[in-house]
Amino acid sequence: MDKFVIEGPTPLQGTIPISGSKNAALPLMAAALLGDSPTTIYNVPKLRDIYTFNNVLRVTGARVDFNEEDGTLTIDPENISFLEAPYELVRKMRASFYMLGALMGKFGEAKVSLPGGCAWGPRPVDLHIEGMKTMGAQIDLEQGYVIADSEDVLNGGVYELNPSSVGATINLLLGSVLKASEFTIKNAAKEPDVVLLCEALRKMGADIEGIGTDTLTVRRVDSLSGIEIDNAPDRIETGTFMIAGAMHPESEVTLQGADPSELGAFPDTLRKTGAKVEINGSTIHVKAPEKLKPISVKTKIYPGFPTDLQAQWSTMMTQADGDSKVTDTIYYDRFSYVPELVRLGANMNVVENTVHISGKTPLKSASVMSTDLRASVSLVLAAMVAKGATDVLRIYHLDRGYEDLEDKLSQVGASIKRVDQDA
Ligand code: EPZ
Repeated sequence: MDKFVIEGPTPLQGTIPISGSKNAALPLMAAALLGDSPTTIYNVPKLRDIYTFNNVLRVTGARVDFNEEDGTLTIDPENISFLEAPYELVRKMRASFYMLGALMGKFGEAKVSLPGGCAWGPRPVDLHIEGMKTMGAQIDLEQGYVIADSEDVLNGGVYELNPSSVGATINLLLGSVLKASEFTIKNAAKEPDVVLLCEALRKMGADIEGIGTDTLTVRRVDSLSGIEIDNAPDRIETGTFMIAGAMHPESEVTLQGADPSELGAFPDTLRKTGAKVEINGSTIHVKAPEKLKPISVKTKIYPGFPTDLQAQWSTMMTQADGDSKVTDTIYYDRFSYVPELVRLGANMNVVENTVHISGKTPLKSASVMSTDLRASVSLVLAAMVAKGATDVLRIYHLDRGYEDLEDKLSQVGASIKRVDQDA
């Protein structure tokens, strides 16, 4: 098992390329199963979650070719014959649950494992299931599996999500485009990953109204064709590196190949800390302020402040002059990084779904433990401004969602090494 050894404090200076998005690629990969011919997705990142989903697709009989050199992924659904997503794979990655909509939507039946637990609290899939039932599908639960069965054509209807859910919106779109006479999703997610999926399905031949709004109406079509499509740049990776570029007073980074239009209010929120943020096409330039201002944030659904950046923001706020707080309204207990940052000397504490941060506190090196994808990258950000050599353990969490992280950070001056934790 690997760990990172990070020497700090080091300013970051230089250019970082942005990779393709994990959370945008996964639904596109599921949608490929709905086509009658192969689909090719460009700019797919080399990440553990992508490899896991490639295997989930292969289990069904689909042919999956991933050219890691140029990030081209081709999925051929022609020989699908096994309509299941097994626990062994689904437990590794929750998004495998998209197989429910994809297999039921194309073949009228599916057997998909329930995702199981997550590092931070309950993440139910009740909205996915209730939405499928509202659409007219027969859904049963057996030994930890969801068994879906559906007629060739379903009546559809109207289903209101509460709360709004990215995953449920995606699964209901996948399940309805070939099945539902007319199905409306109210309070649908508007995240860019959902919009890209809608555009891909429409390019395949689907009939979807209201793309980009919180009301999506689907009317079934008889068949869909395979397509070629560009995956989006990773907006959470982009936000993570923008924060990294603002944390050390001498840092100045340029991010290339980003899509600023997908960042919602985030750039302006970062500017409030005193950081300089210049956007020029797909290039984002961030220059750290001498002193960071304490700016409190509250996470919201898109285009609000993303929950996937709250850990990184809290980490940056440990280096701000004054008090701030970060409230997560999407996940109430996504704060497993806090005790680890406290080990590095941060002054912060959690009350209900808010972390209260007192800065600026000089951080000092220690061994810290990764617990999930975004929590672990916040430890890397902290280690780069902490004095001494910090060990960030269990970085397999990071490999799920950050491509070539240590190479990208080393390129801009970070002292970061991947070593075998057990050596
Ligand atoms: C997606 O997860 C992302 N994952 C998450 O990113 C992200 O944190 C989340 O959206 C919110 O933006 C992927 O895209 C693969 P939700 P998802 O359904 O779809 C509740 C990362 O770091 N809910 O929008 O699982 C749920 O508990 C990952 O890359 C129900 O109650 O999130 C949460 O409070 C982590 N019942 C809220 O809705 C349901 O059936 C939003 O969850 C479904 C969700």
